[in-house]
Amino acid sequence: MRLTLLDLRRAATERKIAMLTCYDASFAAVLDRAGIDTLLIGDSLGMVVQGHDSTLPVTVEDVAYHTRAVARGSQRAFIVADMPFGSYQVGPQQAFENAVRLLQAGAQMVKLEGGDEMAPTIAFMVERGIPVCAHVGLTPQHVNRFGGYRIQGRGQASARIRAAARSVVQAGAEMLVIEAVPETLARAIAAESKALTIGIGASVACSGQVLVLHDMLGVATDKRPRFVKNFLAEAGSVEAAARAYLEQVQSGAFPGAEHVYPDSN
Ligand code: KIV
Repeated sequence: MRLTLLDLRRAATERKIAMLTCYDASFAAVLDRAGIDTLLIGDSLGMVVQGHDSTLPVTVEDVAYHTRAVARGSQRAFIVADMPFGSYQVGPQQAFENAVRLLQAGAQMVKLEGGDEMAPTIAFMVERGIPVCAHVGLTPQHVNRFGGYRIQGRGQASARIRAAARSVVQAGAEMLVIEAVPETLARAIAAESKALTIGIGASVACSGQVLVLHDMLGVATDKRPRFVKNFLAEAGSVEAAARAYLEQVQSGAFPGAEHVYPDSN
């Protein structure tokens, strides 16, 4: 039986939620066997699968294609699909229509990046039956505005990101990815959020954690962000690496202090 959002909410009252990105049926089957709770068809596929230097070239059809594969390969994990750049920013109607394509491909929830400016779109989608995961902090689709992939929310920007998190959750987002912000900020957002909070370079206090599959298997060759840990190095197989990740997320051993960001350097 496939996990539902309700199952995840219940589980989160007792333990942490483990999410990994996944893009194909073979890995989906392995991660499912390992017990990973939720698989994210991230637009990171533009970088780790397609070889682009950002997520911006990814299309809705790309994500739908990989979502179909992950849905076919898995039986238990809750499936979240990313809405790629340009597929939801025009307005609620555009977002709804593209989200429908991803749900029809097998996703149970869609993820989109942004804060206050996305609140009306999130409310529109949720009211019409589309569960939404929001994504705040380092939002990779904003790389050209950020001038690179760098920690967000230090100093005065902290209040803006906290307000963005409040706004998307108030609009109806039931899951919230918090990426690359100071640990104290992530902890504060997690404490006040009624949505499930999923951290990546955020805080062990979040309801769960996510990593890009290729990063946690040590496949990605680029400079490794602080929040990445190679779980394959000591595991010996992909399934054992996924199990180690699950155990360390559930026990709170991952992320360690070395994987999260202090308030200043
Ligand atoms: O696209 C992606 O893989 C993501 C995760 C890093 C959260 O958004």
